[in-house]
Amino acid sequence: MAFLSDTLSRVKPSPTIAVTTKAKELKAAGRDVIGLGAGEPDFDTPDNIKQAGIRAIEEGQTKYTAVDGTPELKQAIAAKFARENGLDYAPSQITVGSGGKQVIYNAFMATLNPGDEVIIPAPYWVSYPDMVLLAGGEPVIVEAGIDTGFKLTADALEAAITPRTKWFLFNSPSNPTGAAYSAEELKALTDVLMRHPDVWVLSDDMYEHLVFDNFVFATPAQVEPGLKDRTLTMNGVSKAYAMTGWRIGYAGGPEQLIKAMGKVQSQSTSNPCSISQAAAVEALNGTQEFIRPNQALFKRRRDLVVAGLNACPGIDCPVPEGAFYVYPSVAGCIGKTSAQGAEIADDEAFATALLEEEGVAVVFGAAFGLSPHFRVSYATSDKALEEACNRIKRFCERLT
Ligand SMILES: Cc1ncc(COP(=O)(O)O)c(C=O)c1O
Repeated sequence: MAFLSDTLSRVKPSPTIAVTTKAKELKAAGRDVIGLGAGEPDFDTPDNIKQAGIRAIEEGQTKYTAVDGTPELKQAIAAKFARENGLDYAPSQITVGSGGKQVIYNAFMATLNPGDEVIIPAPYWVSYPDMVLLAGGEPVIVEAGIDTGFKLTADALEAAITPRTKWFLFNSPSNPTGAAYSAEELKALTDVLMRHPDVWVLSDDMYEHLVFDNFVFATPAQVEPGLKDRTLTMNGVSKAYAMTGWRIGYAGGPEQLIKAMGKVQSQSTSNPCSISQAAAVEALNGTQEFIRPNQALFKRRRDLVVAGLNACPGIDCPVPEGAFYVYPSVAGCIGKTSAQGAEIADDEAFATALLEEEGVAVVFGAAFGLSPHFRVSYATSDKALEEACNRIKRFCERLT
């Protein structure tokens, strides 16, 4: 009898974590490594939010809370959805988990039966297909490549829908490309979904506040209110408020689904950390004044990285609308040989040789389901980004 479950054998460990670990190992061995793999802001949680966490400890908010979120936090989330997205969710239509990741996982665990399909546009956040597999479903990967600005077309979505489709998983702005759909672009997709009443929509809005150049964020239930009864609008405080370590994510959706997700959570982790929930109330209800300066900071870095990468022979880097990632193509480097003799057969070989020869850690595109690309996270200092771009340029110039 096998000790490990058959389900686990369908799943692979996170490649982004593998790259970060490899970069750390090289650093520990004394190598000068610039890490562009991490998916989190490089600065601290704002002080007003930290103080709310400290107050929660001092006031003794250290006990179990309601499984899927305190009434205070649910109120704050309902107010956020109304204020920022024009979406009206009652507290009973809101769930809170230990990070956005757990919220998505709960949704799949609560709804997927063997053979149920989940449409995932590629490139995708690495965890999506594996979470579907863990929950017993079938990921259906649909390519949204560089030619369409990494955005899924209405025709591609229509063609992917089958009688087994349970969910369409939508992520804008996207990890790993930074591409974000305007309301008009999104409407083309919601029009397709309106013709398929059995398909549910999971919208991962995690990077909502990281958009540039006056881009206006839009989410499916807002663009097409007719979809609200079968949409789970998921978001969190991790990226917008630099709170990745606090582990708070949330979603709004139909009560029956929200209840089912709470049931999954009640038999796994119970409530998210009570202190983090109190801090998240302050994040959502308190001043939002650091969001704009953060957008300006990330926009400057995006421009720096896009210009730096487009100066590298063989690399083509589109300008994304949001998040803190770029997803350049390395099509012009494939088939070449590096200065130290590595064959650049694919994007994984490119990323491996780049790390070994120039000490720059990026995540190869195959990990996100679309090659030949790599992902750069520019949530790091200007100085590190400039140096990384110089090294990538030298690496590309030496390819023969
Ligand atoms: C697209 C996307 N969704 C969800 C998450 C999960 O966020 P959290 O840290 O709140 O679990 C991430 C984190 O990297 C992400 O990139």
